[in-house]
Order: sequence, then C-alpha cells, then structure tokens
Amino acid sequence: MTVTLTKRGAIGVVTINNPPVNALSQSVRQGLLDALRETDNDPTVQAVVLACSGRTFVAGADVHEFGKPPVEPLLPDVLRAIELARKPWVAGLHGTVLGGGLELAMACHTRIAKEDALLGLPEVNLGLIPGAGGTVQLPRLVPAELALDMISGGKPIKAQQAVTAGLIDALAGEDLLESAVELASEKVASGDHHSILDRPVNLPSDMEAFEGKAAKIENKARGQLSPAAAARAVMAALDLPPDAALKQERETFLWLKESRQSRALRYMFFAERDAGRLSRLKGLAKKEIKTVGVVGGGTMGAGIAAACLLAGMNVTMAERDENAAKLGADRVMGILSGSLKRGLISQSRYELHEQNFRSATSYTAFATADLMIEAVFEEMEVKKSVFADLAAVTRPDAILATNTSYLDVNEIARSISHPERVIGLHFFSPAHIMKLLEIVVPDLVSDKVLASCIGFGKQLGKVCVTSGVCDGFIANRIMSSYRRECEYMLEDGALPWEIDAAMVDFGLPMGVFQMQDLAGLDIAWAMRKRQAATRDPDQRYVEIADRICEQGWFGQKTGQGWYIYDGKQRSPNPEVEELVVSESSRKGIVRRKMSAEHIMGRILECMQAEGQAILDEGIARCAQDIDVAMVNAFGFPRWKGGPMFIAETQQSSGS
Ligand code: COA
Repeated sequence: MTVTLTKRGAIGVVTINNPPVNALSQSVRQGLLDALRETDNDPTVQAVVLACSGRTFVAGADVHEFGKPPVEPLLPDVLRAIELARKPWVAGLHGTVLGGGLELAMACHTRIAKEDALLGLPEVNLGLIPGAGGTVQLPRLVPAELALDMISGGKPIKAQQAVTAGLIDALAGEDLLESAVELASEKVASGDHHSILDRPVNLPSDMEAFEGKAAKIENKARGQLSPAAAARAVMAALDLPPDAALKQERETFLWLKESRQSRALRYMFFAERDAGRLSRLKGLAKKEIKTVGVVGGGTMGAGIAAACLLAGMNVTMAERDENAAKLGADRVMGILSGSLKRGLISQSRYELHEQNFRSATSYTAFATADLMIEAVFEEMEVKKSVFADLAAVTRPDAILATNTSYLDVNEIARSISHPERVIGLHFFSPAHIMKLLEIVVPDLVSDKVLASCIGFGKQLGKVCVTSGVCDGFIANRIMSSYRRECEYMLEDGALPWEIDAAMVDFGLPMGVFQMQDLAGLDIAWAMRKRQAATRDPDQRYVEIADRICEQGWFGQKTGQGWYIYDGKQRSPNPEVEELVVSESSRKGIVRRKMSAEHIMGRILECMQAEGQAILDEGIARCAQDIDVAMVNAFGFPRWKGGPMFIAETQQSSGS
C-alpha cells in the first residue's frame, strides 16, 4: 500500500509511502482519492493531515510515467477533489517538496513544513510546466514576481522564505506530525477551510516591469521552450479566471510532454543518475574519502582542492617550494572567498574550510591521505616520478589518482609496484564548478578503488562518467575530433565566426574558435609542435592555427587570435579571413559558402562518429554516458539530449 490512513483522535493521518522520493505514481493517486472518500465520509474525522514517510514529501509526478499513456485517476482530478474536501487538509512537509508534490501541498488548505524543507516547481528542467494547477495556485499564495521566478527558473526556495512569501503557513517543531496534527485541530476550531483557487491572484506591483521580465525569459532560454511557456502560463494565470487558466496550463503541459525537448531532458535526467552505476560494483564496500592530498597548486590543482574543501573534506596541497605553495594556497583561498562573496557558503563554512586546508612543500604531509590527486605538468616522466614518490610516502591503502587529460593512465599505473591503487580522475576547469568528472579506469585498478572514486565524485556533487584509457578519454577526444572538422570547414569555405555563430545558434555556450581564443592558442600550438614528428602524414592537416600563432596572436590575452579584442568587445579578425582564404587556394580547394545548418550538421556527424568509435572500442560504457559527458563538459544543450540521443532518435523517427 503506497497510501495509508490512520487516526489521531479526530484527525485522519494520510501517509504516502512510495520510495525513493514518494513520486505521485498511479497507486499513490488512487490511494489519495480513496483516503479522501473515506475521511470525507467518516463522521469521526474532523480534519486530515497529509504527510510522507521516508526522506522526503512528494518530490513530483512519477517521471517514469511521462513516456507512457496516462492512467486514471489523473493528478489534476485528484488535486481538485482534495481542494473540495469536506474536511480541512493540512500538508506536513519535509525534504524536497517539488513539482506535483508542491501542487499537492497547495491543493491542501494549510501547509506546515520542517525548517530544512525545499519547495519548488522544477518542471522547466524536464522541458515541462506544472500540469496540475501549479501556475494558477502559486501566484495566489506568493507575490507574482516570485511565482514567475520559481516557475520559469525551476529553482526551489527554502522553508523560511516560503513562510515569508506566504507559500506555507508555519514552520514545524521537532516533530512534524505532531505539529501538523496540532495545526489541523486549530483549523477545525476556526472553521478555516478554503481552496487556494478561491483567492484572488497577487498582481505584480509594477505590471510593465513584470511583463518586461517575462518577455526576457524567452531570450535567455536560448532555444529551450519550457521557460517561456512557463512565463506565459503565469501571465495567463494573472489574466484568466482559474478554470480557464487551469485548462490552458494543462494543454500546454500535455503539448510539452510530447515534445522532443522534454523527451531529451527526461532522458538526460535518468542518464545522469545512471552514470557511474556499474553493475559489477553493486554492493561493494567503498572506502570513505575524508582526507585528500593534491599535488600541484596551479589552476587545476587549486580548483580540485577547493572542490574537496567545499564538500567538507580535509585537504593538503603540495608544491615544489614555499613560493609556489603560497601562490597555490592563495588560489584556493581566492576560490573560497569568491564562494563566500556570492553567498554560496556562510562565513562559518568559509572558516571551517580554511581550517581544513593545509599547504606543504614535502610529500610527507600526505602520510594520512585517503586519496591523492596529482595535478602537475602533463609530461609522462614528471608524472611517473610523482607517483613513485607518492607510493613511497602514502598509506598502502591510499588511492593514487592522476588528473591527466590525455596521458596513458595504464603506463602511469604500471610504473609503481601496486598498480591496483592507481586511477584517473579527470576534472574539467574550473574544477570546483564543472559538473563532469571522468573516472578513467586503467586495466589493473581494483574494483574497490573504482567504487570509492565514484563515491568520492558523488560526494563532490559531480556527475561521474567512467571511461577507458585512450587519448583524450571521452569528452576531450570528441572535442578534438569536431575541432578538427571545424578546421576542415575553414579550408572548405566557412569563416571562424560563421562556425562559432552556428554553434551558438544551436545552443552551445560558445563556438570552438572563441573558446580557443579564451583558453589561449599557445598551449595547443606547443602540443602540436611536440606531436609533429609522430603525426600521420596521410591525415589532412590544417595549418591556419599555426600561422596565427606564428604572428604571436594567442587569443584574448594578446588582444588578437581568431578574433580581435578591444577590452571585452570581440570582432572578426580580417587578417585571419585573408589567411583562411589564402590557405584554401594554396591547397587548391574551391571555397563553398556554408549555411549554419550545414556547419552544425557536419559537427554533429563528427561527434556521433567519434562517439560510436568510443563505444565500439569499449571506452564508454554506453551511449548515454557520452551524452552526459558532452552536456556536462561542454554545455551541449541539455534539451537536445546529446549527440548520441540525436542520432538514435533521428534514426528511430526515420528523419
Ligand atoms: N519520478 C520518478 N523517479 C524519481 C523522481 C520522480 N519525480 N525524482 C527522483 N526519482 C528517482 C531517481 O531516478 C532516483 O532513482 P534511482 O535511485 O533508481 O536512480 C531516486 O529517485 C533518487 O533520486 P536522486 O536524484 O538520485 O536523489 P537526490 O537525493 O540527489 O535528489 C530529488 C532527489 C528529488 C531532489 C531529485 O531526484 C529531483 O530533482 N527529482 C526530480 C524532481 C522533479 O523534477 N519533480 C517534478 C517532476 S514533473
């Protein structure tokens, strides 16, 4: 039974128990209707408390059901029935009160919550809008501006803010159920029992500013449909009588549910949760990571150290001398104070993280570390020497990880006597922000080490994708491949800014050439020079980037690269255009104008072909993992689901 009814004196207590997150599956909806009928008809029940067992109140509709034909009773009908209940219903809230869960709470006549509860309507994140009345209910409880933010942005608010805004009526004491039952008895005494839909909407204080804000949401969504649809639904709720607004909301919800964007976002929701879940590790005991050692205090090392501190771990970071150690420590503290300034951590958290951080100039400081992460220069011999030193000073059960972006982790592992301790933990820069952690699995690593590192990644709040050993692993290997394709397109007829515009138009945060200018062209140039001797002479090679670097144009930091920079202003570099055109003619290539669609078509095909090769070689566990990596490493538009999802769904729809 997912819904049970018990009694506390004259108060009926309806409890939902549908682990893991009490989603509103069909049996829960039916159970709620049955409990409603029973309490309505039971003369000994004067009011009802609705609560959930387990870790949370209802966290939403059951996302698994969205891809299937609807089964009655439908959520809007259940909620309307509760609104019209003969007895007052009090919702007792804890955990994450989200989506259909918040709509259910708003269908009740009174709401009380534990202080740590989070309340929100995150449907936009799944390409949807609330479909059971949320857009009509919320602006009747909270100011219209807040309703617009919550529904179009999808971010939840804390219980204290929800009380102030009017979304909930009270904060509960230690015992939520006790507090809710007490409140229900008060409601019986006061006879206060109204549906939210009977209330007037809270109109915005400045309608013009409000409409301006709603209009901007569409531009900001960069091609994603649901935020703008959410804003329109809130506007309709302010304008229309509740019944008409509810009807319109439902129609939009049903239309969005069938959209390709919502399918893609739901796919991504489950793909991210499935990433790093390896069947062979099921039930395996993990090592808990409390103390981390980081070798190297450059941008990557400092970012990794900050990510670990922010997750509550103890961190020691070592550099070769006092000066470098001081610079590294400053970088770490800079990241922490940035988090403090932006309100992401409190002063007391900041002080705690500061206390948990040590900097050192000798590896002996790593004697107690559970996990070591090396983030030194990308040179095999340098890495091997670091690993030899670490193997000598660390505990025999300490995990030794490299943050290399492309070196052979098998070779590093085999260079020490216990290769089962060695693994790759490939962070993306800035490491404390970027969500993706590629866990590079060498041949000899032990399952316990692998399971512990996946657990560690989750502790950091990362999405963990496992990758086999190859040059660039999953994300960077695909990126190298489409960057090469973009260079071919330069010779074939496109200009850098045309390629960049096509990528941004598609929904990527920036184009490849703008990204190279931002990162600095000199680093990749140095690598190309190192690899020149081993390059396959039969493979097409585009020299344009080399010619640009030869002029000393290394991108934004030197004022020009693919583009010219005037402060923050970026404009096409006419000399690059000349260079591009002359390279085509030098190679005898007839340039052809390319449409944005053609450019993106070639980029996507290239991503998909490389993705398929990565799958065929067993580097990626599954196509989903590749999509998760592309979304979280390079901002591939989540609402398009990733290149492999596009390939799969285009094939199955025959388009
Ligand atoms: N429907 C079905 N299953 C759901 C779900 C939902 N609405 N929300 C979460 N789950 C499942 C997850 O798939 C996961 O299942 P798994 O363990 O088999 O992979 C499990 O519940 C736990 O979720 P997870 O996200 O791993 O836990 P968390 O503690 O990190 O986060 C939530 C919990 C509720 C905050 C998060 O799952 C979430 O945001 N869910 C979606 C909420 C939402 O969008 N609701 C509106 C739906 S229209």
